[in-house]
Amino acid sequence: PRPRRKRIVVAVIDATGAPVATSLLLHLKKLGVESHLILSTWGSATLKYELEAPNNTAAYLASLAHHSYSPRDVSASLSSGSFRTDGMMVAPCSMKTLAGIRMGYDNDLITKSAGVTLKERPRLVLVARETPLSSIHLENMLKVTRAGAVVFPPMMTFYTRPKAVQDLVEQSVRRMIDLLDLGIEERDEADGYGRWN
Ligand SMILES: Cc1cc2nc3c(=O)[nH]c(=O)nc-3n(C[C@H](O)[C@H](O)[C@H](O)COP(=O)(O)O)c2cc1C
Ligand SMILES: *[C@@H]1O[C@H](CO)[C@@H](O)[C@H](O)[C@H]1NC(C)=O
Repeated sequence: PRPRRKRIVVAVIDATGAPVATSLLLHLKKLGVESHLILSTWGSATLKYELEAPNNTAAYLASLAHHSYSPRDVSASLSSGSFRTDGMMVAPCSMKTLAGIRMGYDNDLITKSAGVTLKERPRLVLVARETPLSSIHLENMLKVTRAGAVVFPPMMTFYTRPKAVQDLVEQSVRRMIDLLDLGIEERDEADGYGRWN
């Protein structure tokens, strides 16, 4: 049998950062990765505030993914470790979902599949978005990091001389994808998103 193609779970939560989610899904599509999208109820409400029409709906985001799931559906395949994946990105990740993952409080498909990702050990990347951070946020981040997750707050990068917001988003998303080991390195150079060397 042929090896199956790379499979990544993308959860989008009710935190600001819809452009990051869109860019991430577009990249995974270009890379030929099989993407599994879980869009939280409030995550879809955020889209219309942060993205330009017509590409600012849950249906548009779903059109970029191979499979979409309701966050309420804990009976979905992603709930089980027997459904193999190559990693999961929660982008953006709210402090509530961070807290849920830290405590193993699997009351929806997002926290559940994040917990499955931690126990099965492919990469879990949490694009946690809040600032400034309370000691509660920091403790939750430390705990999930010790459990194997990578906390990746989307940061502004200036050494690349960004001209527009989209440049900052692109740079950040490319660094997130690096963590999934999908082999994007050569493409960066070709697209004009160089690395520090
Ligand atoms: C068929 C099925 C089997 C499940 N098995 C487990 C399990 O073994 N362990 C677990 O932590 N969650 C399991 N879940 C997920 C939980 O049902 C889910 O996290 C739910 O939100 C828990 O809510 P509750 O604690 O209020 O019951 C399962 C779900 C389904 C539909
Ligand atoms: C909306 O998305 C489609 C498909 O990704 C793209 O071809 C189109 O250019 C986008 N439209 C706008 C206004 O960004």
